[in-house]
Amino acid sequence: MFFGAIQLGLMAACVVLFVPMGMAGWHLSRNKVLFFSGALFITLAVCIHLIPYFPSMFNNQSQTAVIMNQDFSSSSSSCINSVNYVTFYSNFDGFSWNWDNSSRSLVNDDDCGFSKLGRVDVSDLLNGSWVVVAGDSQARLFMVSLLDLVLGSDEMEKIHEDLFKRHSDYHIVVEKIGLKMDFIWSPYVSNLTDVVTGFKRNGTYPDVLVMGSGLWHMLHFTNYTEYGVDLRLLRDSLGELVQVGNTDGVSARPDSGRTSHLFWLGMPTLINRLLNTEEKRVKMTREMCNAYDQELYNSKILRQDGGSFLLLDVGMLSSRCGFDCSLDGMHYNDVVYEASVQVMLNALLIESHQKL
Ligand SMILES: *[C@@H]1O[C@H](CO)[C@@H](O)[C@H](O)[C@H]1NC(C)=O
Ligand SMILES: *[C@@H]1O[C@H](CO)[C@@H](O)[C@H](O)[C@H]1NC(C)=O
Ligand SMILES: *[C@@H]1O[C@H](CO)[C@@H](O)[C@H](O)[C@H]1NC(C)=O
Ligand SMILES: *[C@@H]1O[C@H](CO)[C@@H](O)[C@H](O)[C@H]1NC(C)=O
Ligand SMILES: *[C@@H]1O[C@H](CO)[C@@H](O)[C@H](O)[C@H]1NC(C)=O
Ligand SMILES: *[C@@H]1O[C@H](CO)[C@@H](O)[C@H](O)[C@H]1NC(C)=O
Repeated sequence: MFFGAIQLGLMAACVVLFVPMGMAGWHLSRNKVLFFSGALFITLAVCIHLIPYFPSMFNNQSQTAVIMNQDFSSSSSSCINSVNYVTFYSNFDGFSWNWDNSSRSLVNDDDCGFSKLGRVDVSDLLNGSWVVVAGDSQARLFMVSLLDLVLGSDEMEKIHEDLFKRHSDYHIVVEKIGLKMDFIWSPYVSNLTDVVTGFKRNGTYPDVLVMGSGLWHMLHFTNYTEYGVDLRLLRDSLGELVQVGNTDGVSARPDSGRTSHLFWLGMPTLINRLLNTEEKRVKMTREMCNAYDQELYNSKILRQDGGSFLLLDVGMLSSRCGFDCSLDGMHYNDVVYEASVQVMLNALLIESHQKL
């Protein structure tokens, strides 16, 4: 609207200047030119001052202006919507990945400027926070990727064994940046609910909480209805963990004592014929996976459905990485978890309104 006013002003100035000059070309006397000039100037001035009193005339224009403003403020949220769109490339020495060229804001074509964060960036971003990752083996692989990014490869080697103890929790404090990280082994959604209940009981809430579960339930119970019921219980248990508006950084305000950022680690795309047991191949079919995914959406636990968790779309990421990228039809090449971690970090950047 502001821009429109300037253009209108310039146009008016041109009219005042050039119309009388054009007329002068038609052999008008100097006095008449001055007269027309003056008359035009006054008419235009009157018009411009009257415009605000006839808003309906410019309704369409002002609506456009309002929509443009909304686009501007929703540009970060539309970038959030495209943060999962990643393409993988396989080369002779493995896989690489990057965000799609089309990974732009879906609304106004802004470049979202996603970027792979390095150790220094991550140290800045997660400085002083408490990060909790809870879930099954996918979540553990996610944790490993995140630690890989935060620690050097020497340190990583030292802790590798502890980190991979089957079905165990893992706790580490990265003193240098006051970063506390926990992995909590939680194969079932009911275990995730227990974790949430634990936070409440202790009255301490992590700054970043990544959760995900489903494969164990599919294999051992194979009942998507029950899975949906468990997800709803988890959703209802969240209560005060739910995001409380904008915070200045990833680390929540000390006085608020609440989690700011919740992420749901989606199930990977299963490749049935690669699954390593007969039981898995029989129970974990494509149809069953779809039914479990549908329960996830129906439970409205995800932000896109009105819930609190932002989806880290491992299903899409793994499917885009493809057949060759999978080890056993269920676990994927590190590159998938590396991409998932970067997706989360970029979402965190957007959410916490930080620029690097
Ligand atoms: C506003 O725009 C709509 C379509 O975009 C058009 O049908 C309508 O005539 C316009 N109204 C005015 C007052 O220009
Ligand atoms: C994306 O764009 C770059 C150059 O801007 C190009 O080299 C690359 O092939 C493109 N990738 C895809 C998947 O289109
Ligand atoms: C972490 O934050 C503290 C306090 O805000 C600051 O003093 C310190 O330099 C930061 N460290 C890093 C590695 O960014
Ligand atoms: C997870 O939940 C299951 C079923 O509710 C339970 O048997 C198991 O002990 C729990 N595991 C953990 C690590 O809490
Ligand atoms: C709650 O506090 C106890 C004791 O400090 C600790 O062992 C436990 O891990 C905490 N639970 C959670 C979910 O933070
Ligand atoms: C799934 O669980 C629900 C609730 O426990 C039960 O009513 C239903 O019969 C189960 N379905 C299957 C296929 O076992």
